Amino acid sequence: MPHYLGIDVGTSAVKAVLVDDAQTVVAEADVPLQVSRPHDLWSEQDPDIWWEAVQTALDRLRVRSASALADIRGIGLSGQMHGAVLLDESDRPLRPAILWNDGRSFREAQELGDKYPELSHAMGVIPMPGFTAPKLVWLARHEPDIFRAVRKVMLPKDYIRLKLTGEIVTEMSDAAGTWWLDEAKRDWSDAALAATGLSRKQMPTLVEGSQASGILRADIAGRWGLRSDVVVAGGAGDAAAGAVGLGAIEDGSAFISLGTSGQLFVTTRDFSPAPEAVVHSFCHAVPDRWFQMAAMLNAASCLAWGAQLLKRDIGELLHETEAAYRKPSPILFLPYLAGERTPHNDPYARGVLFGLSPQTQQADLVQAILEGVAFSFADAKECLAQAGTPLTYAGMIGGGSRSVFWASIFANVLDVPMVRYHGSDKGPAFGAARLARLATTGEMPEAVCMPPAVLETIEPQAHLVDLYRPRIEAFRALYRALKPEFVRS
Ligand code: XUL
Repeated sequence: MPHYLGIDVGTSAVKAVLVDDAQTVVAEADVPLQVSRPHDLWSEQDPDIWWEAVQTALDRLRVRSASALADIRGIGLSGQMHGAVLLDESDRPLRPAILWNDGRSFREAQELGDKYPELSHAMGVIPMPGFTAPKLVWLARHEPDIFRAVRKVMLPKDYIRLKLTGEIVTEMSDAAGTWWLDEAKRDWSDAALAATGLSRKQMPTLVEGSQASGILRADIAGRWGLRSDVVVAGGAGDAAAGAVGLGAIEDGSAFISLGTSGQLFVTTRDFSPAPEAVVHSFCHAVPDRWFQMAAMLNAASCLAWGAQLLKRDIGELLHETEAAYRKPSPILFLPYLAGERTPHNDPYARGVLFGLSPQTQQADLVQAILEGVAFSFADAKECLAQAGTPLTYAGMIGGGSRSVFWASIFANVLDVPMVRYHGSDKGPAFGAARLARLATTGEMPEAVCMPPAVLETIEPQAHLVDLYRPRIEAFRALYRALKPEFVRS
């Protein structure tokens, strides 16, 4: 029976899923990754740790399900977006990749925005430091020898494609996050490239996410016992791959993703830029579709951070917090551990716990963390409304979607029903496997990208919605009050 493999090159792990013809996940492998933060605002990973992790994942899948692996017809890649992977003449990385949550190119991003205001509309978003383009301007200024040696600029998952196929290719939904893609034309923008001292020749070839990008190399196929004709699909940036996994390919399908980062994502039939709202309007992973997204740099990672500091298990903490929950917490948590993109575009913002007292317990801290992340999504909801897309409901995906308790906090903070699905924590890797299937079989996206079965819909409760409203305002006021301090420190 045909099988498809989805590989997600995330920030905290490489995840691989093997999916059969009936779209059942038959085996999974997760290989953790570390981020290196050598200086304040920096966030880097060596591209070769991704490739090692992918090889480990393949080894594990072979142990878990050798026959399914031997039957794969297509591989789909998904990955953390916006990273700058810089290759030399021999396709070797010139330095560690600069990641999506790296804030070093803040000045360069601001200069690009000031100098080329007309480009933000075509690129679908204002230039922000996490994006690839401003990083290259930073590189030209601070590491000019490396800048001069750059033969190709790639995105993280596309480095894995290079290893798997030998091809230098990307696809629309990840190219969308570079700030070099003309989103309406689905082509590189010569004007944006020139603005950063680069040209089309340094960019990968573009395909659609559901198109083939190459064939698996014979030595790789041999090493893991795979067929010789395995197609590697374009795949998608993790945001769009999550959408494909959830079947969010129709106009208006909306969801929240709670992974290391967070997104509020709505699929659109047309390209609908709203750069002034700090919304990202990007190409989707299937042809002729786009999306609007509010992108938050801190989501389930805040809960993982809290649990690590408290040296507690996340599941236990959630259980205790739910048992102690009565009403909105008097403690406010600003979740900006890694700075923030939507709505603040502020790499200097930091996490804050406000309102602690001698009575504060662990459960109070955890509740404040869960609420703080949800409050940042209330801001996201406002931004999308400004961009002409009011939210009426939201699906949930990502690790954080496993918690019904957190979903109910979201329903009450956002005042919209939250929909939980079966298997929605499979996330982008599952979407990537669907793209592999589309690239292999040529089926229509609608025939393959169906929403999973609904597990439950959590409705907002009016009395809690009323209690949360002033807390959201207090959360916003706290950020406004502290903003000058973040810059200073
Ligand atoms: C989206 C974004 C994150 C990264 C890391 O704009 O920055 O989703 O892709 O997961």
